[in-house]
Amino acid sequence: MNKLMLWGVIITVAMLGFTWMAVGGSKGGMGEDIVNQLAVAGAVVLVLITVFVVVKYVKQMQSDTATGELADENWDGIGEYKNELPMGWAVTFLLTMVWGMWYFIAGYPVNAYSQIGEYNEAVEAHDAKFKSQYADITGDRLIEMGESVYLAECKVCHGLTADGIDGKAANLNVREEEISVKYVVENGSETLGFAAPMPDRNGLFNASTGALITDAEIATISKYVADGMTGDGADIFAGTCAACHGENGEGMEFVAPNIKEFTQAFVASVVDHGKEGAIGVMPKFDRLNDKQKQAVGAYIANISK
Ligand code: HEC
Ligand code: HEC
Repeated sequence: MNKLMLWGVIITVAMLGFTWMAVGGSKGGMGEDIVNQLAVAGAVVLVLITVFVVVKYVKQMQSDTATGELADENWDGIGEYKNELPMGWAVTFLLTMVWGMWYFIAGYPVNAYSQIGEYNEAVEAHDAKFKSQYADITGDRLIEMGESVYLAECKVCHGLTADGIDGKAANLNVREEEISVKYVVENGSETLGFAAPMPDRNGLFNASTGALITDAEIATISKYVADGMTGDGADIFAGTCAACHGENGEGMEFVAPNIKEFTQAFVASVVDHGKEGAIGVMPKFDRLNDKQKQAVGAYIANISK
């Protein structure tokens, strides 16, 4: 046995000894614990492979002489051989690229556990439970639920009594305020998800005169709608607005909303889409679930009567 082999055996024994002491000395010791036994078995294999490989290469370094064709360049006397790229190296390099792509797309970062994922699952489970528990709520209980939603989400802007806090938001006790009607007739409106938007004043004709709606007519019709479709303006309404909003302003499905009174569906669609108009901007509340939207719609339809 030469000196190199002797060192190999000494290092092997020493490393196995340390491993044995570390594992055997731990709680539970070697005897009973299958995990410890597996760890030691793994350690023995690793130590043997390591020593074998190191011994092999040290031996090779001692005896090998360099052969092959030198490249033309040399750096301060140090040359470089024109060796073929080793096959194993090339394959490993390509495999790491494939693995890298797998890891990035399907492995850890995308598919693994995440707190956000867990949160979303919990919310989904809660929503499903909510849905089944409250599926059959109607009538007064729906209105009560709507009041809770209103107090939690809407009161900050629309106020405790839904009066709009001195013009900060729409007054929900009345269907339309004059300034809002005027603003919509002058500027049009298109956020609420109807098949076509409401045109602005350049698209609104008085059917009896055939002319574009005038300032005076806008003033009259705004007051008429805000007063709950009473007073002067019935003829303008019939000629200009009724084609979309219906004879009495009660709206038409998919065409135009009810502008005479609040409906559950209209409120739900404002909550869904948000709203921008004469008074200001209302953000959308798409985090509310369908039942909550229905409920708050029922609540507002109820208080505005
Ligand atoms: C071509 C169809 C059409 C005509 C004509 C029309 N509207 Fe509209 N109107 C709509 C649609 C659609 C909306 C919903 C717009 C949206 O999605 O924001 C709307 C919305 C409104 C609103 C806003 C309701 C709210 O609370 O947000 C008012 C007020 C209104 N219209 C009044 C009128 C008046 C008054 C006239 C007649 C001068 C008129 N509209 C003529 C289609 C029409
Ligand atoms: C950040 C303030 C704010 C919050 C919160 C808010 N709104 Fe609004 N809302 C507004 C403003 C401002 C308007 C008026 C938009 C305009 O100028 O037409 C409005 C308008 C509306 C309208 C339309 C009224 C009309 O005549 O067309 C409805 C319905 C409504 N809000 C319901 C709700 C409900 C229900 C909630 C709670 C889920 C809510 N809002 C929360 C600010 C808010």
